[in-house]
Amino acid sequence: MDTFTVLSSLAEPRRLRRYMGALAVALLGSASQGALAECEYSIDNSWNSGFVAAVRVTNDSASTVDGWQVQWQYSGDNRITNHWSSQISGNNPYTAGNAPWNGTLQPGQSVVFGFQGTSSGTAEVPEVSGALCDSGNSSSSSSSSSSSSSSSSSSSSSSSSSSSSSSSSSGGSTEHLYSLAAFPVGVAVSAGNESRSFLIIPEKQDSIARHFSQLTAGNIMKMSYLHPSENTYDFANADEMVNWASANGIGVHGHTFIWHSDYQVPSWMNSYSGDFQAMMNDHVSTIADHFAGRVESWDVVNEAIDENQSNCYRNSLFYQRLGSSYIAEAFNAADAADPNADLYYNDYDTEGGNSNKLDCLLQIVDDLQANNAPIDGVGFQMHVQIDWPSTSQMRTAFQAIVDRGLKVKLTELDVPVNNPYASTPFPQHTSYTPEVAALQKARYKSIVEAYLDVVPAHLRGGITVWGLWDGDSWLLDFDERQGADDWPLLFSGPANGPYEEKAALDGVAEALTGQ
Ligand code: G3I
Repeated sequence: MDTFTVLSSLAEPRRLRRYMGALAVALLGSASQGALAECEYSIDNSWNSGFVAAVRVTNDSASTVDGWQVQWQYSGDNRITNHWSSQISGNNPYTAGNAPWNGTLQPGQSVVFGFQGTSSGTAEVPEVSGALCDSGNSSSSSSSSSSSSSSSSSSSSSSSSSSSSSSSSSGGSTEHLYSLAAFPVGVAVSAGNESRSFLIIPEKQDSIARHFSQLTAGNIMKMSYLHPSENTYDFANADEMVNWASANGIGVHGHTFIWHSDYQVPSWMNSYSGDFQAMMNDHVSTIADHFAGRVESWDVVNEAIDENQSNCYRNSLFYQRLGSSYIAEAFNAADAADPNADLYYNDYDTEGGNSNKLDCLLQIVDDLQANNAPIDGVGFQMHVQIDWPSTSQMRTAFQAIVDRGLKVKLTELDVPVNNPYASTPFPQHTSYTPEVAALQKARYKSIVEAYLDVVPAHLRGGITVWGLWDGDSWLLDFDERQGADDWPLLFSGPANGPYEEKAALDGVAEALTGQ
């Protein structure tokens, strides 16, 4: 297959579903609202040259609505540059109609769609009109919002979590981190029986709902949790997490169908003596099918590369039983079960610093594309160091995936401040001083800038941090860290909250808003 054919097959409409993170605005807002207007325009964030806004459309009639459309016009220079969860046409005036999946509104039901735009300092709140807005109380909840990096001027977008609205001497006060991006901004969570489960820590739920538009299960959607014995699937804990996400308008990235890790491969699978391919396909399709419509993307295969093998393939259980074709087979099984989910190959150390591993990644991706496997993107885990790899190496790695027409997703980002592999004595920092915080902020910022610079909007699969606050990090248990504190994430503790935004979060926010 030539390059053109590969690229056009990837552009086919099997991935029509748009990012729905703006729904988070609706649900965050709903808890604190009184009577809803039928159509409500709200500014979620604004800064010197732009804004992010949302419109809530509510069916206040007694009958079901099938398809909706609303219009508005700015009197000033506000103009929309990108949007999600609706189909927008026109160029002031604008018309927004339902996306394929959100046209049906039961009586009392709302939908929220979002967009980002440019302005020269004032984010305007125009009047919204349309059949569902015409009963006289359509509203624009405030006249305008002047430039400010975190203003939220509308009652419909106010956070339900006043208890978590913290600012710190090191961090700023971003209202909703997710609202600064037109792609998922995610966080990995502990759930189920895990001691740090966000479902037993209300402050954690508040911070997650306030700032993130996507969840990844740090553990509980791995193989041994979901498929503990050959004929038993256990979805209870994952369903609880996914249902919480849905109820809060937050998407879910699934992690992961196939992973070599001993601890995560169920023991029964290791000794399976039947048709291994059929069993693996059934494993993938049963899980994909169970979560179809509730999980928007998946790490289909995780960490299949061993760059020290001449053919690049890790000698995992799956490779031993099936050879390299197991990867394409897993993508095919996932796609057949849930054609709407975005499907990723995910790995670590592929961000450019380890050129052998990047070469292996590209070889595997090329093989998948040559075999017409339904891969949508590549997940870069991004367990990076504060000083390695360089952002120019990262840019090269991201660019190679963009060149192949695939999405780039930063799936497990964290930035520890100490580097056990550096030539300087470890740990380099024994306390989290303002200087260290500034260093870390700059690193987070430059990583997000690299992502935005290299990856065009339609190929941005999102950015996920691997844990909410420093005490949640897997690095605390990682041998190489020698028990050192690394402060790798965007929030500080205490364990049960309230969690405080770190300067690192400002770095991400500044990059997202082009500051
Ligand atoms: O829940 C049990 C607990 O009951 C038991 O007492 C304790 C004893 O060790 O173990 C607990 O399970 C631990 C689990 O995390 C939940 O906290 C496991 O031992 C521990 O191995 C497991 O570690 C996870 C690791 O993957 C292995 O699955 C980390 O939290 C998780 O952050 C890490 O995530 C991986 C990604 O999936 C893939 N990329 C790398 C990333 C970091 O290693």
